[in-house]
Amino acid sequence: MCGIVAYMGEKQAYPILINGLRRLEYRGYDSAGVALLREGDLNVYKCQGKVSDLEAHTMGKELGGTVGIGHTRWATHGPPNDVNAHPHQSTSGDLALIHNGIIENYAAIKEELLHRGHSFQSDTDTEVLVHLIDDIQRSEGVDLAEAVRLALNSVVGAYAIVVLDRKDPDVMVAARKSSPLVIGIGDGEHFLASDATPIVEHTKNVVYLEDGEIAVIDRRKGLKIRNIKNQVKTPFIQELEMHLETLEKGGYDHFMLKEIHEQPRSIRDSMRGRLNLAKGEVVLGGITDYEQKFVQAKRILIVGCGTSWHAGLVGEYLFEELARIPVEVEYASEFRYRNPVINEDDIVIAISQSGETADTLAAIELAKGKGATIIGICNVVGSSIARVTHAGSYTHAGPEIGVASTKAFTAQVTVLTLMALMIGQRKGTIAGSRFHRLLNELDAIPAKVEKVLQGEAQIKYIADIYKEASNALYLGRGYSFPVALEGALKLKEISYIHAEGYPAAEMKHGPIALIDEEMPVFVIATKGASYEKVVSNIQEVKARKGKIIAIVTEGDTVVDGLADHVIGIPDTADPLVPLLSVIPLQLISYHIAVMRGCNVDQPRNLAKSVTVE
Ligand code: F6R
Repeated sequence: MCGIVAYMGEKQAYPILINGLRRLEYRGYDSAGVALLREGDLNVYKCQGKVSDLEAHTMGKELGGTVGIGHTRWATHGPPNDVNAHPHQSTSGDLALIHNGIIENYAAIKEELLHRGHSFQSDTDTEVLVHLIDDIQRSEGVDLAEAVRLALNSVVGAYAIVVLDRKDPDVMVAARKSSPLVIGIGDGEHFLASDATPIVEHTKNVVYLEDGEIAVIDRRKGLKIRNIKNQVKTPFIQELEMHLETLEKGGYDHFMLKEIHEQPRSIRDSMRGRLNLAKGEVVLGGITDYEQKFVQAKRILIVGCGTSWHAGLVGEYLFEELARIPVEVEYASEFRYRNPVINEDDIVIAISQSGETADTLAAIELAKGKGATIIGICNVVGSSIARVTHAGSYTHAGPEIGVASTKAFTAQVTVLTLMALMIGQRKGTIAGSRFHRLLNELDAIPAKVEKVLQGEAQIKYIADIYKEASNALYLGRGYSFPVALEGALKLKEISYIHAEGYPAAEMKHGPIALIDEEMPVFVIATKGASYEKVVSNIQEVKARKGKIIAIVTEGDTVVDGLADHVIGIPDTADPLVPLLSVIPLQLISYHIAVMRGCNVDQPRNLAKSVTVE
């Protein structure tokens, strides 16, 4: 939530900041701002709206300067407006600060500062921090870096910050705790950003700042890092593996559509080097040291939020069926606050696309503290969750920019499938012939996804029929139940149509009352274990005049005779159906949202990376 970017070097900062903010806009887009240092002036421009509104706002203004900071906001404290937008300044106007996170004890600090004569313009927690730094700088007579360090020692909460001081224009100070911050090291220039996307086109050399670290970037002395206890740290420079073209729309109208279409590749990349058909084995290098733990595990807990939680539910079915390990899937936000029973022989799998979700991070810390083994499934390399887990396997989906998660879901399910297969084989809970059949089926999935994507024209046609719906139901059983939840989430978050996912048989325990001729009901009715039962559920909906859009196995004639529309997907093994059946549901949501004129990549009130609880 909130994106921050900063630059110090020889080039003009403004274009670099604006470009960086555009890349970070997925993290928040209700207001934006920049501060630029130029010849003793600190020019701050900010306004409500998107980065494009900021650009319009700065038109014709003084935008020079080779040092600057920028921010795109997702409001937590105070509504989105010009005043609450970042950067925030000290009363003197000497300091400017951008912040991603929440200062939890801001009210107490504010009260203290009010007593000391400070006055505040905004409703934000961030403004309190810049006043505190300013206060310490003056009262203690220390430089900016030391004032930041002392201030952060009295702060409770999460932050990634960058501060500029008009009096010391060759220094930029940054710090992080529980919110991400990456430093790019170029030739005579430094970049700072919430993730590497604004940096990759300038340099591939990056340092991921650790929790509790403060970075001082000095035009003359370069980068120095210490922690808030004042211990010097050696920067660990890594090379980015990100490619610029993965951050562009590549000819698609929206990132979401591009990412839906990338799934044959992203699923393949998530299997690459892990699934070996010739040898008939699955090897997930990141967790081989923990294989024995898995084999002996009495229980697996899966934690995540939103779409990642849905992937976790598919994981539950996979691990229970293939590896015969009991699984509980938990919303990270609930798990962290209910004193859960966790044992040392539990394995906790934390799933997160961004690797920064605050609730998932907190759930990990809790389980880690109780001695469980934590395995991460993350997409963003070097992210906080990837770093705090004991081990893990990255999904190789590539950057996901559209706020609605698509390719991350299928990559997560792919990795969970590989994990369950690997552990099932080691435990001997899958018959050899089934194991080999599943490996072959999994290997064939990318080509089958490609085939589903070729049916987009029909899906668009169906989207056009139901685009004005006010409600929708999604039904599925077994492996398709989590897909029903995911389909409903996709529709509501980008098209603002109320949608619910249900296990198909649960429908008659309540939701059936909602069904009338206005209600589209999306049913996943592929051939497999629960096929006949789902067909009966379809009959029940039909009897109440609901409109049925069924996802079926290609060639199905039974459902074809019952449903209003059928979307065929290639046949595959039951555990792999989610990787195919979710694709038409993603496309339906996308096209309905576009037809309704919604901002698909940046739906209202949402942000991609939820770094606040
Ligand atoms: C939905 C969506 C969210 C995320 C959730 C978790 O399309 O994107 O529900 O899945 O916020 O985010 P990560 O996976 O980054 O932890």
